[in-house]
Amino acid sequence: MLGWGGAGLALGAAVAGGAVAAATAGEDRTAPAAASGAAVPFHGAHQAGIATAVQDRLHFASFDVKTRDRAELVRLLQDWTRAAEQMTAGDTVGEGAYGGLAEAPPDDTGEALGLKPSRLTLTVGFGPSLFDARFGLGDRRPAALVELPKFAGDNLDPARSGGDLCVQACADDPQVAVHAIRQLARIGFGKVAVRWSQLGFGKTSSTTPEAQTPRNLMGFKDGTRNIAGTDTAALGKHVWVSRKDGPAWLVGGSYLVARRIRMNIETWDRTSLKEQEDIFGRDKGEGAPVGRARERDEPFLPAMLPTAHVRLAHPDSNGGARMLRRGFSFTDGTDGLGRLDAGLFFLAYQRDVAHGFVPVQRSLASDDLNEYIQHVGSALYAIPPGVRDKDDWWGRALFS
Ligand code: HEM
Repeated sequence: MLGWGGAGLALGAAVAGGAVAAATAGEDRTAPAAASGAAVPFHGAHQAGIATAVQDRLHFASFDVKTRDRAELVRLLQDWTRAAEQMTAGDTVGEGAYGGLAEAPPDDTGEALGLKPSRLTLTVGFGPSLFDARFGLGDRRPAALVELPKFAGDNLDPARSGGDLCVQACADDPQVAVHAIRQLARIGFGKVAVRWSQLGFGKTSSTTPEAQTPRNLMGFKDGTRNIAGTDTAALGKHVWVSRKDGPAWLVGGSYLVARRIRMNIETWDRTSLKEQEDIFGRDKGEGAPVGRARERDEPFLPAMLPTAHVRLAHPDSNGGARMLRRGFSFTDGTDGLGRLDAGLFFLAYQRDVAHGFVPVQRSLASDDLNEYIQHVGSALYAIPPGVRDKDDWWGRALFS
């Protein structure tokens, strides 16, 4: 009977207690993975989970908004924000998992009790469909937030695509990420419903060039030429929405493209090493571009096949387009035909999709990699700027 409204009050009191602030003070969001399981600060000009050093695990959820009541949606975003402040600091939500009213379900489900914050970040986004007639947001929709065009080879499942809201939960402990999405879904019960979700393990792109580059499920180093979380010039140029771009409520935010890319793993595994390396335009061991010795050497594009992935995706082939890739590998069991349902859950943040994902994905139409992959899910979200302080909440500037 208490519901989340009651818990929200208790939550405020707990946050005011100061333990949360102490746990997060002075942490650097872009610091590489800390073995300590530290907390990443939740408040800031930008949302955490973008430039933040990529964590090991992902739980991504896309939600449909079920309520038609704008005030109820606003309350939900406020409640989510307060819960996110607590969970990213390693706290339970509301009054916690035990010790409260015996007659009511606990505010927190409890499976993260005793676990460290594990660098949990929660990043919220708004899909194009949120700006339809339901909430009076039509005139606040960014001109750039339009459905992605259909690309060659797309085989998209509507049940794994789109959504009004998204939450990206990243953490170094999978249980912490799953717990966070579960609490937000619970808090949203009756107001939002999970449309689809994706678990990810093994980051496929790093934002920390000084650390070892991770490998994707094809066995290649992935993220070598990604935008680094510490490269403020590149972030400003390619990732954060500026005043000039508008709208005002999105300044300091970004756009996120999510694509569930299935890999034909079994076919790939029967492909010769030479062909695999030709497909990417890099060697498998070192990750060096064709004709070069070291991973970080500048790629010489004319030395690669015209259909090589790196040649086609490179900024020089796409009018300078760049994005911050932050994807994860996934394996969701088998497909009933004896094949792994595995691949790359591609996540890319950018300042402008029309000069980021769209031209690059169009260019990849002639990518030799297409023989081994298929895009089966797709979504686009506007990512609002960061939550500044304890009085602020996700989307305040949009709804005010
Ligand atoms: C399963 C699908 C994919 C796999 C396995 C894959 C793998 C790779 C690998 C191994 C590299 C080289 C290392 C690096 O610089 O990161 C790379 C580079 C890159 N990929 Fe992908 N990729 C995939 C899909 C995509 C998609 C859908 C896009 C965007 C539309 C994309 C954009 C890029 C970009 C921008 C680069 C860097 C190019 C450069 O500056 O040299 N990739 N990818």
